[in-house]
Amino acid sequence: MFSFFFKKEKINPFPLRTDIHSHLIPGIDDGVTSFENAREVILKLQESGYKKLITTPHIISDTYKNTPEIILNGLRELNLFLLQNNIDIKIEAAAEYYLDTWLISEVNDGNLLLTFADKYLLFEMNYITEPYQLNDFIFSLTTKGYRPVLAHPERYQFMTLEKAEDLRDRGVLLQLNILSLIGFYSKPVQSMANKLVNNRLVDFLGSDCHNLRQASLIPEAFKNKYLKKVLNLPLHNNLL
Ligand SMILES: [Fe+2]
Repeated sequence: MFSFFFKKEKINPFPLRTDIHSHLIPGIDDGVTSFENAREVILKLQESGYKKLITTPHIISDTYKNTPEIILNGLRELNLFLLQNNIDIKIEAAAEYYLDTWLISEVNDGNLLLTFADKYLLFEMNYITEPYQLNDFIFSLTTKGYRPVLAHPERYQFMTLEKAEDLRDRGVLLQLNILSLIGFYSKPVQSMANKLVNNRLVDFLGSDCHNLRQASLIPEAFKNKYLKKVLNLPLHNNLL
């Protein structure tokens, strides 16, 4: 009858089925550099329990001028390569859009944007200064039926809990980077990540995996106490 008190908490070593943020299409951004590199990174992510990876190459108008065509062609080639190498994992693609004037025109002009699932659009922004167009951008996206997902809110120097709550109220979903929880980026980023978790301000988890080193750290991050806490939130990952 006392077994309850002595039962060890069971930890699921593979808590996430689906990842929604990574850079796994070779050679088109700062992510994996070759198909061979993609193979080792994807196998490492698979070891962590992922069954589906929605990969999100950067689209930054002055650095990575990727188009939906470039990304979807890269995805086709990657899937063919994985098939030829007998690697059984589902890979889809969207993009990580950088908020700049080019992106704002794309949204306003109604041009095709790469999204995942039900019009989720992943975006990032300047890390140091809040873009003055942020709220207008969110309004344009949501009125066009997109569901904006802010990549790694904990990494922006201007982020506060109040700002995160305000973004949520405007219809933005918040995607925390798993490695932020183990201090991979910096102590302040880790601290903001912990605060977001404590305040239930997380809708998605993402690996934001660019390389083998990051993929290799994911299992360690899965043991982190805040990670266990965030898994109790109604995350959207495993619904996809
Ligand atoms: Fe990213």
